[in-house]
Amino acid sequence: EKGGYATFMEKEIHDQPHAVADTLLGRTDESGRLVLDEMNISEEQLKAVDRIIVVACGTAAYAGMVAKYAIEHWTRIPVEVALAHEFRYCDPIVSERTLVVSISQSGETMDTLMAVKHARDIGAMTISICNTHGSTIPRESDAVLYTHAGPEIAVASTKAFLAQITCCYVLGLYLAQLRGGSYADDAQSVMKELGQVPEKIETLLGQMDRVKEIAGFMADSRSVLFLGRHVGYPVALEGALKLKELAYIHAEGFAAGELKHGPIALIEPGQPVFVVVPSPTSEHGLHGKVVSNIQEIRARGARTLVIAEEGDEAVEPFADEVIRVPATAPLLAPLLTVVPLQVFALWLSTAKGLDVDQPRNLAKSVTVE
Ligand code: BG6
Repeated sequence: EKGGYATFMEKEIHDQPHAVADTLLGRTDESGRLVLDEMNISEEQLKAVDRIIVVACGTAAYAGMVAKYAIEHWTRIPVEVALAHEFRYCDPIVSERTLVVSISQSGETMDTLMAVKHARDIGAMTISICNTHGSTIPRESDAVLYTHAGPEIAVASTKAFLAQITCCYVLGLYLAQLRGGSYADDAQSVMKELGQVPEKIETLLGQMDRVKEIAGFMADSRSVLFLGRHVGYPVALEGALKLKELAYIHAEGFAAGELKHGPIALIEPGQPVFVVVPSPTSEHGLHGKVVSNIQEIRARGARTLVIAEEGDEAVEPFADEVIRVPATAPLLAPLLTVVPLQVFALWLSTAKGLDVDQPRNLAKSVTVE
């Protein structure tokens, strides 16, 4: 049942090309236009959406953060991400034109369920992005988009995360197509690019030996930091969460731009820092800014573990380790850049002799508030 792997988590990491491919399956017609059959909200209602609020917990909330960058860019609809357990208690402002998107692997997380019920009670439209057919959250929502990651057994989420991000892209592109405007034309080309991602994940998974080796050396680490920017920021948060969950190591993710406003004080000789570098093709010169961040922390003695696109030579002089990922469109990069961080957490946990699939104190789905 573990497909020849030692743990479910290792298997599920290797399932990821399929999780993404299967989540894309059947969502376009022959002409490449997006069609969402599971959408029980009318096109008129969706065209009228003027605000989106994503509600989720843990890893699913980080998928929501990726969604914010992508959906806002493609649709120009403002997107907010709320932790589900906070949403209900912050007196949220919604109208019948607000779309509340919940993201949950299990479909049973009580915090998320209560947020969805509250959203409905106060008059918002609700869509569930969920991995489990017949679970409670989709039943309590107006519409559902299933992620097709297959059952996820390991407590720490991996393939469901990639499938959630994929589903968010699909939803964003669908809304863009529906609303027309400049980004509607791009929807098909982004879908094409997205279609190539599973193969790239496969390639990447074949190049993870060095990451496993690095994890093996780092079992004694007391703290590991993660930096990212734009869509790399939620990837940094997810990298830190995986390490906390699986290896019980203090880990924190930061937006790289925030470094100079505080966290740089943490840098001392030997401090390991993963840096998720934006593609050199990213807008607004973000690539150069993150490369400068690497330079700054390296000068203060950090051990820099750099995740950079294939062919990005600019990072070389400041990196203790460079982990290469295949190139893709900047907004789609999280589907690739998070993989080495998952693999790192898996092997660090293993190096410490811990239970990878069932970390202490955690449950796969938390059905209490
Ligand atoms: C946590 C799990 O309790 O719940 C995380 O440990 C998960 O892995 C989070 O991301 C949300 O779960 P779900 O099922 O709602 O996606």
